[in-house]
Formats: sequence, structure tokens, C-alpha cells
Amino acid sequence: MSENMNRRDFLGMALGGVAAVGAGATLVAMKGAWDPLPSVISAGFTTVDLSGMAEGEFKTVEWRGKPVYVLKKTAAMKKCEDRDVVVGNADYSLGIQICTHLGCIPSYDKGEMKFKCACHGGEFDACGKNTFGPPPTPMEIPPFRIDGEKLVLGEEGPEYKKLSGKA
Ligand code: FES
Repeated sequence: MSENMNRRDFLGMALGGVAAVGAGATLVAMKGAWDPLPSVISAGFTTVDLSGMAEGEFKTVEWRGKPVYVLKKTAAMKKCEDRDVVVGNADYSLGIQICTHLGCIPSYDKGEMKFKCACHGGEFDACGKNTFGPPPTPMEIPPFRIDGEKLVLGEEGPEYKKLSGKA
């Protein structure tokens, strides 16, 4: 009887051990499957080097599959304290270049210094604020962090938190 109990205890412990190892291995495998791939993690950030940009220069970069515009303002352009990003001594306008009406991509008219949306005639000024037509709100500012003369899109730095009212 006591020998049976010992055998039973041993089998129980052995089975428990195997189950624990199996559960641990399963958890490790599940974590591996759920974690984003390194390429996906790095794709979440886009670095924009501002050092070579001339005054009035406009460029569009891709961030998480969306177009993001960066415009280095000239001294003559209207300043928007609530939206401008100041890096060094320069002011930049920055936004996700997607119309807030129905999602078309407005194009920037350098001569008129405004964005025009071809879909329904909406317009935004150089700060990205809606000024005409159906767009209900300004273009969204993506999360960013200033790193020297670079913008890192996808990270919430103190300047972004201040602009978005999170600081
Ligand atoms: S989608 Fe831009 S005005 Fe309608």
C-alpha cells in the first residue's frame, strides 16, 4: 500500500513536472507569436532630417503608411503658436497630409501657401488648419520627438505633448 502510494506520488509529481514544462514552453511560444517582428517595431518610427531643408521647402515622408508633410516656414509665413514645431531657430509646419473630410490627400500649393483637396474643394492653410470647404478640423499632427535637427515620428516628445495638450 505504501509502495503504491509512493508510486502514485511519484507519477503525480512527474506528470505535474511535465505539465509545468509544457505550459512554460507554450507561454514562451505564444509570446513569440504575439510580439511584433523587429521590422514592424522599426517601421513604427520615421526619422526626418531637417538640417538640409531650405526655407519654404516642403516634403512629404511616409509614416506608418500615411503621408506626413514637413514644411520649413519662411519669415513671411504666418506663425501658428498652437501648431508650429520649433527646431533651432526655424519654424516647421507638420501634419498627416490626409484631408479631415473624407480622407483624400490634399496637395500643397507653394505659390498660394495652402493645401487644396481635389475631392470636394477643401482647403487648409500652411499651418494645416482647415480654412475653406467641408474639412471639419485641421490636419492631425503625428506624435513626434525632436532629436537635435531630426524629427522622430512615432514618439511622443515633450514638444508634441505641449502642442497636443498632454503636457
Ligand atoms: S475629402 Fe477633402 S474636401 Fe472632401
